[in-house]
Amino acid sequence: MLIDTHCHLYDEAFRDDFEAVLSRAREAGLEACVMPGIDRSCHDALLAVADALPDFAYPCIGLHPTSVGENWQEELDFVKQHLSDRRWYAIGEIGLDEYWSKDFVKEQIRVLEEQISLAAEAGLPVIIHLREATDDFFRVLDDLRGVDFRGVMHAWSGSYESYKRLLGLADFKFGIGGVVTYKNAGVAVALERMSLEDVILETDCPWLTPVPYRGKRNEPSYVRLVAEKVALIKDLPLETVSGVTSANAKILFKL
Ligand code: NI
Repeated sequence: MLIDTHCHLYDEAFRDDFEAVLSRAREAGLEACVMPGIDRSCHDALLAVADALPDFAYPCIGLHPTSVGENWQEELDFVKQHLSDRRWYAIGEIGLDEYWSKDFVKEQIRVLEEQISLAAEAGLPVIIHLREATDDFFRVLDDLRGVDFRGVMHAWSGSYESYKRLLGLADFKFGIGGVVTYKNAGVAVALERMSLEDVILETDCPWLTPVPYRGKRNEPSYVRLVAEKVALIKDLPLETVSGVTSANAKILFKL
């Protein structure tokens, strides 16, 4: 059985064929998926899916770095206000993204630090989105030294060296997704030396579609393609990869 630990199943990309997407996911062996939030605009859709699929789709709440703008304070307050509404499985996705825009870097850092502290207080894991902001992220981790938290580096594509460095700074897992199936993917090289105990699987659907569907819409059933590629790279049976990564996910998110 497989777990897709980063699945935007509530995205409008799935609105027209939701049931078909779901049955393909179950056929592929998916037993659960974790749904990260982004901002207020997706909150209701996310909860509607979580309520419809209570033992399958696990909801998270958080303010995504690309949604940190002029109204960041309002958006952050929204997360705080709704934290006690129900059982959340993580605070996420949160992080830093200096690829799309550098206009609100300072605010992104502040919002990230606050949300990691919230997660630590609530005993929840964090789902970290990091893009072209590695130095700032290490500064954040330095600022938060002493704050005890756990989480996942989502869409991990870093080197073996940064993996080791991060493990020394917090209790991280590493989310491996479709990128690992791409030609010359650096993460495939890093993955050879990473411990499977530190790995969880994800799709980030509807984005980051694995080969051979790259360029088309991604969907939860494709987590199996990621698992197969990981098995190939680690030279392990698919059952071992799915078993170990699912166990890792269950422990991290307390599923
Ligand atoms: Ni995402």
